[in-house]
Amino acid sequence: MRVLGIETSCDETAASVVALDGVAAPEILSNIVLSQIEEHAAFGGVVPEIAARAHVEALDGIVEAALADSAVSLDEVDAVAATAGPGLVGGLIVGLMTAKAIAAAANKPLIAVNHLEGHALTARLTDGLDFPYLLLLVSGGHTQIVAVRGVGDYQRWATTIDDALGEAFDKTAKMLGLPYPGGPNVEKAAVSGDAGRFVFPRPMKGSAQPDFSFSGLKTAVRQAATAIAPLSDQDVADICASFQAAVADALGDRVARALARFRQEFPHTARPALVVAGGVAANRTIKGTLEALCLEAGFAFVAPPQKLCTDNAAMIAWAGIERLRAGMAGENAADFVPRSRWPLDSVSAPLVGSGRRGAKA
Ligand code: KG4
Ligand code: ZN
Repeated sequence: MRVLGIETSCDETAASVVALDGVAAPEILSNIVLSQIEEHAAFGGVVPEIAARAHVEALDGIVEAALADSAVSLDEVDAVAATAGPGLVGGLIVGLMTAKAIAAAANKPLIAVNHLEGHALTARLTDGLDFPYLLLLVSGGHTQIVAVRGVGDYQRWATTIDDALGEAFDKTAKMLGLPYPGGPNVEKAAVSGDAGRFVFPRPMKGSAQPDFSFSGLKTAVRQAATAIAPLSDQDVADICASFQAAVADALGDRVARALARFRQEFPHTARPALVVAGGVAANRTIKGTLEALCLEAGFAFVAPPQKLCTDNAAMIAWAGIERLRAGMAGENAADFVPRSRWPLDSVSAPLVGSGRRGAKA
């Protein structure tokens, strides 16, 4: 089985070919990701219109490169899978329309993939994980804990009621005058900082509601920074270190709760696992906290390689393979309309927060 995947939901233009032959481990034959960071850096965040235009310009070449790299011709591909949501609608239209055109011209089935499902199933591509497992997705647009029970069978246990975690990193960086994207720069500055200098709030810690919140933390950072302005490099480092410590602590509390719930709901899982995905999963302080938690709770800690944790098309191609294999490729994908909001779990009610991109459903 060979699937061509296309991803254009945010600021990466990506295409990939993934293969699955019999019982052998799946293989990523090509994985091309073109980041638009430079196009958006001057604006301090992703500008949807610029993103959509950049996808139009780049996508054909990226798809060609992915096919060339994989040494698989379009004829030899079994299906075309494209991210159809959630994300920025301009980019989704570009990716899905391109995929529809390729599928129609090559007479191949088209699979409309939920971007979050791509993240959710990546650990099966990289680590061959069995269902069920727990997923922590922490990116610029999403902060969720999801019980992954099977292909197409997801239950969201927690989400953010305001900012996504990556967004909180990006806004904190901006406040402190650090360049975009904020996360890696906050982490870098924090290395030489004193994490004990500022005591920031740990939002939701101990709350019976399982969700996340980061906007109060961001406000506390702003107040601390304003109070001691102008900031020296050491001040910035201390704020970053203290912010990161608060985030890790708050996140750890929420995840510990979910691990306990997983034990209760899936008592017969031989080797329970926590999988992390999303750009924030690169953060070493956060990773360290989660790893320690898992060790204590008897969970395997699975962190796929960073290239597959952040947005990419291999995860979309893989989700396509999983759907094909499960007979769930969908009937009328050619009529599928991109969905800027598309919750993975249709059962849990969307939580409407006040985040920049609205509800992180
Ligand atoms: O998954 P991703 O590449 O893209 C989407 O948001 O879809 O995640 C990007 C986010 C950004 O907010 C970025 O600041 C954050 O991940 N990030 C980090 C780190 N690297 C990237 N946050 C904290 N520490 C990092 N090392
Ligand atoms: Zn993503």
